[in-house]
Amino acid sequence: MKVFHLSVVSAFASISNALSISVASSGGNQTSGKQYGIMFEDINHSGDGGIYAELIRNRAFQGSPVFPSMLDPWASVNGAALSLKNLSDALSSALPTSLHVAVGNGSDGPIGFANPGWWGIDVKEQKYTGSFYVKGDYKGTFTASLQSYLTNEAYGGVNIESKAKSSEWVQHEFTIVPSNAPNINNTFSITFDPDGVKGGSLDFNLISLFPPTYKNRPNGMRVDLMELLAGLKPSFLRLPGGNNLEGNDPPYYWRWNETIGPLEDRPGRPGTWGYENTDGLGLIEYMNWCDDLGMEPILAVWAGYYLDGTALSNASVQYYVQDALHELEFLMGSVDSEYGSLRAKLGYPKPWNIKYVEVGNEDNLGQGGSSYQSYRFDDFYYAIHAKYPDILVIPSTVAYESTLPGASTGDYHQYTRPDYFVSQFNFFDHYPQNRTALIGEYAAVQPNIAAGGGVNWDDPRWKFPYWIGTIGEAVFLIGAERNADKILGAAYAPLFQNLNSYEWGPDLISYTADPAQDVKSTSYHMIQLLSSHRIAETLPATSDSGYGPVYWVAGKNDDSHIFKGAVYNSTEAYNSSAPVPVSVSFSGVSAGASGALTVLTAPAPYTHNDIGVNVVKTTTTHVSAGKDGAFSFHLPDYSVAVLEVRG
Ligand SMILES: *[C@@H]1O[C@H](CO)[C@@H](O)[C@H](O)[C@H]1NC(C)=O
Ligand SMILES: *[C@@H]1O[C@H](CO)[C@@H](O)[C@H](O)[C@H]1NC(C)=O
Ligand SMILES: *[C@@H]1O[C@H](CO)[C@@H](O)[C@H](O)[C@H]1NC(C)=O
Ligand SMILES: *[C@@H]1O[C@H](CO)[C@@H](O)[C@H](O)[C@H]1NC(C)=O
Ligand SMILES: *[C@@H]1O[C@H](CO)[C@@H](O)[C@H](O)[C@H]1NC(C)=O
Ligand SMILES: *[C@@H]1O[C@H](CO)[C@@H](O)[C@H](O)[C@H]1NC(C)=O
Ligand SMILES: *[C@@H]1O[C@H](CO)[C@@H](O)[C@H](O)[C@H]1NC(C)=O
Ligand SMILES: *[C@@H]1O[C@H](CO)[C@@H](O)[C@H](O)[C@H]1NC(C)=O
Ligand SMILES: *[C@@H]1O[C@H](CO)[C@@H](O)[C@H](O)[C@H]1NC(C)=O
Ligand SMILES: *[C@@H]1O[C@H](CO)[C@@H](O)[C@H](O)[C@H]1NC(C)=O
Repeated sequence: MKVFHLSVVSAFASISNALSISVASSGGNQTSGKQYGIMFEDINHSGDGGIYAELIRNRAFQGSPVFPSMLDPWASVNGAALSLKNLSDALSSALPTSLHVAVGNGSDGPIGFANPGWWGIDVKEQKYTGSFYVKGDYKGTFTASLQSYLTNEAYGGVNIESKAKSSEWVQHEFTIVPSNAPNINNTFSITFDPDGVKGGSLDFNLISLFPPTYKNRPNGMRVDLMELLAGLKPSFLRLPGGNNLEGNDPPYYWRWNETIGPLEDRPGRPGTWGYENTDGLGLIEYMNWCDDLGMEPILAVWAGYYLDGTALSNASVQYYVQDALHELEFLMGSVDSEYGSLRAKLGYPKPWNIKYVEVGNEDNLGQGGSSYQSYRFDDFYYAIHAKYPDILVIPSTVAYESTLPGASTGDYHQYTRPDYFVSQFNFFDHYPQNRTALIGEYAAVQPNIAAGGGVNWDDPRWKFPYWIGTIGEAVFLIGAERNADKILGAAYAPLFQNLNSYEWGPDLISYTADPAQDVKSTSYHMIQLLSSHRIAETLPATSDSGYGPVYWVAGKNDDSHIFKGAVYNSTEAYNSSAPVPVSVSFSGVSAGASGALTVLTAPAPYTHNDIGVNVVKTTTTHVSAGKDGAFSFHLPDYSVAVLEVRG
């Protein structure tokens, strides 16, 4: 049992046996300013089916030998016969497969097809913008409408005069302003009068419907989910994911050049999480996402390794090194450069600025390690560094810490148990000071086990973050922030989970088609608190006891002094139902100064958030410095706290 000295007695709030922490006024380390960021991995429909605002699932019948084109989830309306066709004159070479709708058999009334969305469609009184391509001879109107799947009650629809031709694909555009539907069990349909069709059939493709998007971007993101992210004040986005970048087997990986331009020109690709990706959320959408949320992009480039273990030879990787340079020129080059002019042609003359490039993802795993170490990383590094000396090139692992000038140490990923995160509190203390690591992915994914130790991938993972895991992560993040000079930033991963189809839990934010069901996890609340109080310069602190059960970091920014703390396992030192007394003094902050103390707690360590359930309690109190300038307060076991003293 630890005994803490009685070191501070404040005139205003006298606490005995407090853990006493004194924070100096200078001599700390500058932080990167990017401590809290996000990493987006498209884990089964979290990209295509949700955060990207497209409401229609399987809008363009994209397929591959891995995941063949399918009709699912389209359904026939009023007896129309639906089938897939690869027409000889396809809509585009990227979208060869289309929906063939045969009339025949004298149907009574309008016929067509309907889509249930990504497990529902949120129908509200707002403007929906849609379009579809059709080919065939049809005189009459198409009706695009939104209705209840359960009762067929119509909430809104629009008649669109046909411009269809048998000789070419013709796009039809429309808007719908429906009334509010009582739930999300709705479908979108397109119907037409079979009597107006000559030739017995029509072909359709790229059938799309968007609600209003975040910041009204065309082809943009879902508003409620982006607002949740904005609430985290994220400072970077690692894109386009981890495994998502690599691809499962040759020849499929994330090809930046096939995710840009009109949707008609994006073929999509078999993703790593069990389905074909539309790539509607492509490179430019990622960059807009960064701009809209004020995030620094950390751009990952494909590094010549597939998850099936195939690593390219040194000779064959050179082509992809050039491709990475093309990608950088596309993003950063002047409008006169070859790839910069392509960007300008797509409506983005202003170049973006890329300061961080990560080479691959987790290249220590599988059979990737030796080729990464012996040539793959170096090949990309030297080419990028030569052309863009200001870019920090990040290895995808810390297994072989890079010491090349202009390279980061590497990307540290940690999925583990709460206890293990706490034991890693001082992990980065051992890093040399001249190195900078990215914590590109972290999450507590399994409960503590008696034997201790880290993750066991054979054990089930949590569906949602648990509070004890959240506190473990907080301790780890505070340890990283103490070493702010060596840590570029940290991102919880993965970010999003569509609760109707997901491969991976836990995730930071869960959702369904219904914005009212968004789940901010316990870890979301913790990150939001820490991220909303940025330390620009850490400050040296002394205390009358070591770390544990309270773990802390202190520092300042332009207008405040900040203390961040987390309490984990106070049972060893304190009676667990009694909160830990803490006393913090900042050099230069005098008696009477006032601060705001925000404390997050939950009813029990093994509790989690869920649809409609938030176990996290946020309490903010105003505290004043005693006559010695110390702020005295109590922190409960399993809590995270921030004390901010302005001025
Ligand atoms: C039709 O196109 C898809 C790609 O959308 C492809 O996977 C499929 O093999 C093609 N089918 C035929 C019969 O060519
Ligand atoms: C017409 O009816 C026949 C026989 O029931 C059926 O096989 C065919 O699919 C129908 N065609 C259409 C376009 O509904
Ligand atoms: C809609 O209702 C049907 C029938 O009850 C059900 O099978 C389906 O899962 C529901 N869909 C959504 C998105 O709630
Ligand atoms: C995209 O780039 C890759 C790699 O350079 C290349 O193999 C592929 O053909 C390109 N795709 C298109 C549509 O140009
Ligand atoms: C890989 O190829 C590059 C370009 O030809 C060359 O500079 C480099 O030395 C090679 N690396 C190895 C390990 O052979
Ligand atoms: C927390 O307490 C339990 C029970 O005493 C112990 O097994 C575990 O190692 C402790 N964890 C940490 C990180 O101190
Ligand atoms: C980093 O520091 C270590 C030890 O302090 C030193 O050996 C190494 O050369 C330094 N590396 C660079 C790239 O400055
Ligand atoms: C992932 O998506 C595929 C295709 O939609 C689906 O078959 C699979 O069940 C999904 N996996 C999970 C875990 O939802
Ligand atoms: C600044 O970094 C050095 C070296 O990592 C470390 O010894 C020192 O404690 C850090 N200062 C603070 C205030 O964190
Ligand atoms: C722990 O603290 C609580 C609250 O102060 C007190 O009621 C309880 O008796 C204490 N238990 C022990 C074993 O000291």
